[in-house]
Amino acid sequence: MCGIIGRVGDGNALESLLTGLENLEYRGYDSAGIAVQNGSGINVQKRSGKVEELKESIGEPLRGEVGIGHTRWSTHGPPTDANAHPHTDESEDVAVVHNGIIENYAALRERLVANGYAFSSETDTEVIPHLIQYYLDAGLDSETAFRQAIDELEGNYAITAMVSGEHVLYAARQGSPLVVGIEDGEYFLASDVPAFLEYTDSVVYLEDGDVVVVDEDGVEFTDLDGNPITRTSETVDWDPEQAGKGAYDHFMLKEITEQPTSLAQAIEGRIDPTNSRIALSDFEPGTFEEIDTVQFVACGTSYHAALYGSLILNQAGVRSTALLANEYSVSAPPTDDDTLVIAVTQSGETADTLSALRQATAEGARTLTVTNVVGSTAAREADDALFIRAGPEIGVAATKTFSSQAVILTLLGQRIASDRQGEPPADLESLLPELASMPGAIDDVLDDSDAAAIAERYEDSQAYFFIGRGLGYPVALEGALKFKEITYEHAEGFASGELKHGPLALVTPATPVFAIFTGEEDEKTLKNAEEAQTRGAPVVAVCPADHPAVEVADEHLEIADTDPDLAGLLANVQLQLVSYHAADLLDRPIDKPRNLAKSVTVE
Ligand code: M6R
Repeated sequence: MCGIIGRVGDGNALESLLTGLENLEYRGYDSAGIAVQNGSGINVQKRSGKVEELKESIGEPLRGEVGIGHTRWSTHGPPTDANAHPHTDESEDVAVVHNGIIENYAALRERLVANGYAFSSETDTEVIPHLIQYYLDAGLDSETAFRQAIDELEGNYAITAMVSGEHVLYAARQGSPLVVGIEDGEYFLASDVPAFLEYTDSVVYLEDGDVVVVDEDGVEFTDLDGNPITRTSETVDWDPEQAGKGAYDHFMLKEITEQPTSLAQAIEGRIDPTNSRIALSDFEPGTFEEIDTVQFVACGTSYHAALYGSLILNQAGVRSTALLANEYSVSAPPTDDDTLVIAVTQSGETADTLSALRQATAEGARTLTVTNVVGSTAAREADDALFIRAGPEIGVAATKTFSSQAVILTLLGQRIASDRQGEPPADLESLLPELASMPGAIDDVLDDSDAAAIAERYEDSQAYFFIGRGLGYPVALEGALKFKEITYEHAEGFASGELKHGPLALVTPATPVFAIFTGEEDEKTLKNAEEAQTRGAPVVAVCPADHPAVEVADEHLEIADTDPDLAGLLANVQLQLVSYHAADLLDRPIDKPRNLAKSVTVE
């Protein structure tokens, strides 16, 4: 995945391009570049490394009212200066930034080379400016040359291009996100809204097959053949401060501490504890009464939330499985029109998840997405969308979106069970008041956590293990994913009962075991933790203050005594803090861990 920004308007484009790149850096950060139009043609500045390094390397201030920029997560070719975007033709008449993969680039490159066009990078993207130049050389005007070039591309792309001497940007979308930002006399193109949130909150989400031509007079929306199409703008309610780091050292810490608010937003208007009702007004009563089976598809942290949702459904008596989206094409269980496939995805743009969603649609299943991004591909392609309302999440490590996903999936699960059984599940009455008090319970965790001290005590460990049972199991997996993702240390999550079936061989005094207690057969989990402790491993119990595990464990991370459906979410906040502090001690680039990107738009 990569980040694209483009800008047309009065005044110098440089500042908004660089701001846009900084705001998009979570999408990729192994190289960055910009190109601006000025009186003497297109001026390209690009290099490997972060946007900050690009900024420092731009000596003479660049001037130009039209420009494009890019921050890269490499797919074709290593992160070198030459492979950084924008890419141009040899004479720098055409500059292009691209997100996605051009599958037929090898054939196009061969053809262009045979026609005398010289390449200077190893990227698939570089075929695009050459192809546009090829059609310009053939005498076509710029817009037609752009359309012809786009027409020949196979694969996924979001592309923004400019041609020397023109006050125009050309853009196209096929499978990778692209949005237009509109402000009086100033227009933006970007992979994601936070890129230009400082400048405008008026947004048009492009759809696959859209081609846009943007100049200072406005935006022309067309299909690939040039037929006009209507796209309406929406006002996004994310404010720039939400998308900024504020006083925090890292977005991750800011986003962890935002959870009381993001969770309150997630449930606002959706629960009615007084009448023991779930008020998911997005769905008419009885919407799910015909659903026989639910399949969740998701990746990474979203998969852990999906597993959480699936366990809730099974416990409520509805047949359900959670599947890794990237395995779905080879191992999908049978579906029919009584199957509901729920794609869980923060970004709504994860290629693996979209591919599973499309497969489910093709096989006739009903589909629904649980996502954070209104206007995302998943939201537009699924039959229904349920938004988690977490606000922008910039840190590559998903934090607040996990808790919001898990809570929304808990509500959805109860709602599906209610529709199918014709009455609310018996435990709803006790669950909803506990759910309403979750923002406060998370606040308590944030205020009193011993996570920093525990991270420091176990800083020199060889590996970190996380165990849990029932709903504690997805939380154990998530705890380990977070830990390995941002500390680069070895971390594994296990179902508590599995420890004795193999992993126990890894346990030593240098492998702390974080044991999560959710109130589901805790005595068995405690026994499993003791089995590790007997072999020398320090045990960190994540549980309420009066829990028997506190007496046994070496360390304690406290959570409120709450409903087993929710306890794991409090435990997860403690584990997020442990990971954060451990990574901070190791001086890791917490918001942008190596080799990763916020949303992965390639399969
Ligand atoms: O946008 P999505 O929720 O579909 O992303 C899925 C995973 O790539 C994502 O959760 C990833 O595992 C996180 N970086 C983990 O913190």
